Amino acid sequence: MKLSSRLCVALTVTNLCLMSFLRAEDLQRQDALKRFEVLEAISPEKLSQPKVLLGQSLFWDQRVSGDGKTACVSCHLPEDWGADRRPFSLDARGKNTSRNSQTVFNAVLQPTLRWTGDRKSAAHQAERSLTGSMGFTAAEDVVPVLKKFGYAEAFRQAFPEVSEPVTPANYAAALEAYEETLITPAAFDRYLSGDDKALDATEKRGLSLFISTGCADCHNGKLLGGDSIEKFGVAKDYWLATKSDKHDVGRFEVTKDEADRYKFRVSMLRNISKTGPYFHDGSVTTLEEAVRVMADVQLGTELTTDDTAAIGSFLNSLTGEVPSNYRQP
Ligand code: HEC
Ligand code: HEC
Repeated sequence: MKLSSRLCVALTVTNLCLMSFLRAEDLQRQDALKRFEVLEAISPEKLSQPKVLLGQSLFWDQRVSGDGKTACVSCHLPEDWGADRRPFSLDARGKNTSRNSQTVFNAVLQPTLRWTGDRKSAAHQAERSLTGSMGFTAAEDVVPVLKKFGYAEAFRQAFPEVSEPVTPANYAAALEAYEETLITPAAFDRYLSGDDKALDATEKRGLSLFISTGCADCHNGKLLGGDSIEKFGVAKDYWLATKSDKHDVGRFEVTKDEADRYKFRVSMLRNISKTGPYFHDGSVTTLEEAVRVMADVQLGTELTTDDTAAIGSFLNSLTGEVPSNYRQP
């Protein structure tokens, strides 16, 4: 064979190899796009809308609470990516919350809120927290407090169409508008959008395992969860693996329907490596242990240490930035 044709054969083989390699990358992405969606960043102009700014002030204002010392941020801390590293948080009545505080980042994108999916929107959640975590006897009691601390003008600007804007419903609407800006795209979204280098080899292996093991059957969509309500403990009782003291009945508490016993909302997994401890009762400290527990109680499988770590690495690629407006205005 002449040198030029030998060169040609070599080049063709290299090209074929390269093409099949590229195709494997593309196939993995296509497979991922069947289950997950890109989380888009919000437009920066949104941050300065009057309703959003009002929500931001309210979120951080401890004076607007039953004890004058509790704000939303007391249990949704910036250093904990909008969640709380304590298994339970202290409310405005000095009592512990009954479940672990979830992150507020990306939370508004879920069709129902809280561990049992018993709130239909962020506004619904915020209005109900007035008489819950925030410690007011009645929701209306927030109105004189808001007026006392000079919020009337900000409410007028945020809700120009109404004559009496300072109401619990508008307090809730402003908080919801603020929470709509707390969206955190991450490396995984760059990967889904076509950037192969956004994930390293271990993270890609973790992604494959996350799908092949069955995690993505429940944790899917834009937030890798949040969309559905499932039994915690499909293969065996969850407390056998989490060592929880209390056997929380989950959604049964809300519906009294036997079919809902031990059902919880499938957690979204955005920023999950930053929002421990894990599960509704914060019973598990590390993410790798949470992954192991999930495989065990939801899928009846035992993961190797290597595979658990790879899934953990993949989950790290879901960590975004703490939003620039997640601070006291
Ligand atoms: C005393 C601590 C505490 C305070 C104060 C508090 N929260 Fe929470 N928050 C929690 C806990 C605990 C949960 C989970 C409750 C559950 O599901 O049973 C939660 C859940 C949420 C959720 C649902 C997240 C999801 O993924 O479903 C949102 C949104 C939220 N809080 C926003 C707020 C806002 C807005 C305020 C202020 C008005 C606030 N929180 C005040 C502790 C607190
Ligand atoms: C049958 C549905 C289902 C499957 C399959 C499943 N999960 Fe979950 N996952 C849930 C539910 C429901 C919860 C909430 C449990 C609770 O109440 O604490 C959860 C919670 C989690 C949490 C803790 C979230 C938090 O905020 O504390 C992690 C991490 C997690 N899952 C990862 C995984 C991984 C990794 C796999 C695969 C090995 C997996 N899950 C498989 C339904 C599922």
